[in-house]
Amino acid sequence: MNLHSPIVRIETQLLTLKEIELYIKRDDLIHPLVSGNKHRKLKYNLSKLNPDDHPTIVTFGGAFSNHLHATAAACQAMKFACVGFVRGEIDIENPTLKYCISAGMELIPMSRSDYRLKEIAPEVAKIISTYNNPIIVPEGGTNQAALLGVSELIDELQGTRCEDVDYITLACGTGGTTAGLLTSNRLRAKVIAFSALKSDHLIHEIKALSSCKNEDKLIVNTDYHFGGYAKWDQTLLDFITDFEKETSVPLDHVYNGKALYGLMDLIANDYFPKGTKIMHIHTGGLQGKAGLVYIMSK
Ligand SMILES: Cc1ncc(COP(=O)(O)O)c(C=O)c1O
Repeated sequence: MNLHSPIVRIETQLLTLKEIELYIKRDDLIHPLVSGNKHRKLKYNLSKLNPDDHPTIVTFGGAFSNHLHATAAACQAMKFACVGFVRGEIDIENPTLKYCISAGMELIPMSRSDYRLKEIAPEVAKIISTYNNPIIVPEGGTNQAALLGVSELIDELQGTRCEDVDYITLACGTGGTTAGLLTSNRLRAKVIAFSALKSDHLIHEIKALSSCKNEDKLIVNTDYHFGGYAKWDQTLLDFITDFEKETSVPLDHVYNGKALYGLMDLIANDYFPKGTKIMHIHTGGLQGKAGLVYIMSK
């Protein structure tokens, strides 16, 4: 495990042309299975628990969820039993769910209407009540304990070449990771959160989670969701292929591919003045690449 994830300088023709200094903090390299923002979000959710007191971790996610995958891995390593409620049907050939099962996670399918209510859906509450003293970790791991883990990323920048960046950029889903950055007392940069989904209220959710701390530094960009959550098109896939070839940094199509597409597009359109220094946080999600291959093969 490498919590102080490496920071790499990205050099492309566009960056040279526009005189933009871009770094990527490779949180995807923190851990082979519990990587990216998942490691930071789960850290304080799990580290204070004793498997003997809370034998079961209960959580929620979609069929290709990075959060379910990471939670299954973390619970296996920490010897917690775990249950994942999955939105929709369970296809055991799906590589994400296949891994979760192999790591010992019990998977339970949920109707889309129950999924909206999660643990308060009567059927779900009934199932949860059968576990001994369960701990519920919300979808995407987003809660106050997660924010604390994420805020430590800003501490890690002290003394590095990214200490004084003008902008920090990242992909955004529930808003928990962005909110965690905003709660840091040491945050100096503006934060651009690229929404991976269609949402008009993400900005309010982030502000609610971070109690409006550093709200003057928050910019939510909703222009690069490519049709909605987990949707993609050939333009996005081509961008990912080209970016990977040019930089050797792998990208998923759900989060970081979209965010970096958005960032490069803003750079191409002179959103940032010459000399701007930017750090993108690679939030992981690379297990989803196998899911994309699986979906395309069907
Ligand atoms: C790889 C990856 N990046 C970014 C995000 C978005 O994080 P958040 O939900 O905290 O906004 C997620 C989802 O949690 C994710 O799995």
